[in-house]
Amino acid sequence: MYRIGLVGVGKMGVSHLAIAQAHPKLDCVAVCDSQAFVLAGIRSQLGLETYRSFETMIAEANLDGVIISTPTSSHVTLAKQALVAGLAVFVEKPLTLSAADSQELAAIAAEHNLANQVGYHNRFIGTFRETQRLVEAGAIGEVHHIDGRAFGQVITQPQGGGRTWRAKKAEGGGCLHDYACHVIDLMNFVAGTPSEITGARLGQVHSTAVEDTVYALFNYPNGAVGTLETNWSDEAYRKMTTSVTVYGTHGKIFADRQECRLFLKPGHSFEKFDSGWNIRYITELQEPVSFYLRGEEYSAQLDHFAEALAGNPSPEAGTFATAADADWVVEQIAAVHASGPAPVATGAPATVEPPTKDQLVAAAKHYGAQAVGSAKALANAVGTKLKGLRS
Ligand SMILES: NC(=O)c1ccc[n+]([C@@H]2O[C@H](COP(=O)([O-])OP(=O)(O)OC[C@H]3O[C@@H](n4cnc5c(N)ncnc54)[C@H](O)[C@@H]3O)[C@@H](O)[C@H]2O)c1
Repeated sequence: MYRIGLVGVGKMGVSHLAIAQAHPKLDCVAVCDSQAFVLAGIRSQLGLETYRSFETMIAEANLDGVIISTPTSSHVTLAKQALVAGLAVFVEKPLTLSAADSQELAAIAAEHNLANQVGYHNRFIGTFRETQRLVEAGAIGEVHHIDGRAFGQVITQPQGGGRTWRAKKAEGGGCLHDYACHVIDLMNFVAGTPSEITGARLGQVHSTAVEDTVYALFNYPNGAVGTLETNWSDEAYRKMTTSVTVYGTHGKIFADRQECRLFLKPGHSFEKFDSGWNIRYITELQEPVSFYLRGEEYSAQLDHFAEALAGNPSPEAGTFATAADADWVVEQIAAVHASGPAPVATGAPATVEPPTKDQLVAAAKHYGAQAVGSAKALANAVGTKLKGLRS
């Protein structure tokens, strides 16, 4: 059993705590949170050691690893402290708010040969894993387009300055850092990291301090194009709904959490798949887990963390280094957006400059000439028709 300390018992930390408590190879022995009432509940209900200070927990609890599920802005400091103390680290997504910070964490983990993983759970969903496998194996030939999307109802009412960290940019709030990062990591997982972000627009539906929508265009080293569309203010979806479509020279693959659909063009086949549509469902692609909570992927990612602690990490699971790549894409999207025109809030009237006098004169000449031309053409056509009728 590996002794685990968990920091941050909020929305995500509660799930990690429950899964780790039930895990055959992980033993969550200590919990840290900045809120005393949270710790009082953990002590009285679970009888675990609790700490207000992360430093004290890692110094005293004799741990093998930590799970960090605090708000994103605190990840870099906590992860660095744990790595320097020689602990394996699982951090919730996104790894940090800066690609440079994430790369530094990846370097420290590599230098000390410590297990390191980020909570990008899409990598543990059978349909997405199958998509990655098929693309890597060349089932659809050379990839020329990858499209990633996610929609859900996280923010569905007007938000002012923001009561929670999610509505504050500096703390990791906003659709780009908190939501789109999942799709970006999934696209990286399936098709590799893009080399360039060529366009990006962040939009606001309800929020004022952060964005609610993210649209972006990527270039890949082989010339392929990526398109990203995410909206966390879409009431049409009850839960976060993520999909990826990959287009290749031999066919295409669409995957969401229910299905992996492979289409092979006429004359192409792969393994047991023939030309046309080949549909596989999550029920045949997902390995069962020993403890189910919210979806197999949440338990499966901690199964992997236990394997990584034992020295058997799988490359598909991702590392701090791959999470740093996702953070780089996030950073580039923010930069490309910032270099473009100011955002227009949904529903706001677009401002259009009135035409100059010269433009109006030119337009009048152009359309006047067109009108005269059209009238002559019509007269000729009518005249010809009348002549025909008379003869
Ligand atoms: N993978 C997913 O699907 C998913 C879903 C939700 C959140 N997350 C990620 O999990 C992280 C936490 O999000 P959440 O929704 O659980 O947040 P939350 O606000 O619900 O919970 C955060 C908890 O951390 C505690 N905390 C804050 N700062 C701390 C510190 N410095 N030291 C100790 N405790 C501290 C708070 O008291 C709170 O209990 C974020 O990085 C978020 O992006 C991931």
